[in-house]
Amino acid sequence: MKHLISVDDLTAGEIGEILSLAARIKKNPGAYREKLQGKVFGLIFEKPSTRTLVSFEVGIQSMGGGTIFMGPGDFQLGVREEVKDVARVLERYLDGVVLRTFSHGTITTFERYFHKPVINGLSDFEHPCQALADFLTIREHFKGPQKPVLAFVGDGNNVLNSLILLTAKLGGRIRYATPGRFEPHAGLVKKAREIAGKSGASIEALTDPREAVKGADFVYTDVWVSMGEEKKRKTKIKSFKGFQVNSELLGRASRSVKALHCLPAHRGEEITEEVLEGKSSIVFDQAENRLHVQKAVLIQLCGQNSSEESE
Ligand code: CP
Ligand code: NVA
Repeated sequence: MKHLISVDDLTAGEIGEILSLAARIKKNPGAYREKLQGKVFGLIFEKPSTRTLVSFEVGIQSMGGGTIFMGPGDFQLGVREEVKDVARVLERYLDGVVLRTFSHGTITTFERYFHKPVINGLSDFEHPCQALADFLTIREHFKGPQKPVLAFVGDGNNVLNSLILLTAKLGGRIRYATPGRFEPHAGLVKKAREIAGKSGASIEALTDPREAVKGADFVYTDVWVSMGEEKKRKTKIKSFKGFQVNSELLGRASRSVKALHCLPAHRGEEITEEVLEGKSSIVFDQAENRLHVQKAVLIQLCGQNSSEESE
């Protein structure tokens, strides 16, 4: 594992290692405080962020590394200077970067010219760190002998794309319902189905949210209007009528269902206040797990003595 740009950069074995390491870090964070000693990471964010930015900052600093935040005003990737030039300059200074971009192509171009670890902190195509934290959360909350059924209701965007790929890699079960025009990326789904053919994963694409959540162990949603899509707001809101995760919909899932949301949430749109604040909600465990997973990813990519814990 050299980079984490897509879930597809990871083998099932590597995903398992990241999730187990994240669980160990969560139990004993002090054992990892020197893993990034002397390393400095750039956090390049073209879009706002709470969880991704702060969990990476805290994760890096608590393992002895340093961070430099570069927001949209700092060098405007591809506007003030070509992405490939910025990448080649930063490669001379930094030990790795976390990038949050509008276009996924910005990250893949950056990676071609920056020969050190590049981590995708969300693009218009994928959100791999989010999906890893979600699966850690699912593992913590599901103890049954079967593979849990994850139902996703809403927009077929970056978050769903990464969840589908991760489910495929791990041989899990996912059912998603999206309105016709807002399906996940067709090429990615094709690839996920090929992977599923070998891993035994089950991937069901639906258009009826009620069918998707039926008996599900986890029900996940994401905003209908993602960052950068504000101009499409009116049309999108109309298209997602009937796709809200509310108590009525959740009532069709398993009795012990847990509700997931990557956050930020738009209450009253994709999810109700009642569900978000209700007893099924585990959204803040998900948010916490971003930190433990980011640390595990960083250690796997560039930690010192990464196979050993220091205590
Ligand atoms: N879930 C997530 O990525 O949150 P932020 O946009 O706040 O980083
Ligand atoms: N789909 C959302 C996820 C935010 C974490 C967005 O891209 O804005």
